[in-house]
Amino acid sequence: MKFSHEWIEKNPWLLIALVTLVVSVGGAVEIVPLFFQKSTTEPVAGLKPYSALRLAGRDVYTREGCYNCHSQMIRPFRAETERYGHYSVAGEFVYDRPFQWGSKRTGPDLARVGGRYSDEWHRTHLDRPRDLVPESNMPGYPWLAKTRLTPNDIMPRMRALQRLGVPYTDEEIKAAPAELEGKTEQDALVAYLQGLGTLIKARR
Ligand code: HEC
Repeated sequence: MKFSHEWIEKNPWLLIALVTLVVSVGGAVEIVPLFFQKSTTEPVAGLKPYSALRLAGRDVYTREGCYNCHSQMIRPFRAETERYGHYSVAGEFVYDRPFQWGSKRTGPDLARVGGRYSDEWHRTHLDRPRDLVPESNMPGYPWLAKTRLTPNDIMPRMRALQRLGVPYTDEEIKAAPAELEGKTEQDALVAYLQGLGTLIKARR
């Protein structure tokens, strides 16, 4: 029989084997270099691991499911960069485990929300979003301001991240609970939000 495309298409098992081969080689060629490129593996200039307070705030963010309505990933399109600022780059997220990129945008992207509003704005907005944005459908989170953090919970969290390669020093981990003493979940969440995306400033 002549070795033709038709022959391959009429042999399902051969077709499956060849498709698998093509997809794996093609996939490997696209994916493997990403593990070795500086721009995707190294932190952007000035990036530090989350402080204890911001890390606690990040945990509140994931616990409350803020990612169900907010992405943290500005795509490199004009419509996005005009609205949100410089597009997101991989080096901004090297200490994010797990990352909060998401894709659902009931609310705006938050990748560069840091510094856009005052702490006071965030506090009011988290308590009662409609006091500031009357048409908002974001739920209020008034209990965050009334709930104290549990300072000692942060040490095992930081140790786990340290084991995964985040460069926390043992001294930083030991000093962490003191940083959370007397702080509320809202304090932590606001600190987390205020640091988002601030290392790359250029806004078009
Ligand atoms: C049901 C969807 C929904 C959820 C859940 C939600 N938000 Fe929102 N969020 C919105 C919408 C819609 C807006 C735009 C209107 C406004 O500012 O309130 C918004 C706006 C914001 C803004 C202002 C962004 C900007 O650039 O103006 C911040 C900050 C924010 N949300 C943080 C949070 C945090 C933190 C959580 C979790 C505790 C959260 N949101 C949960 C829908 C949501």
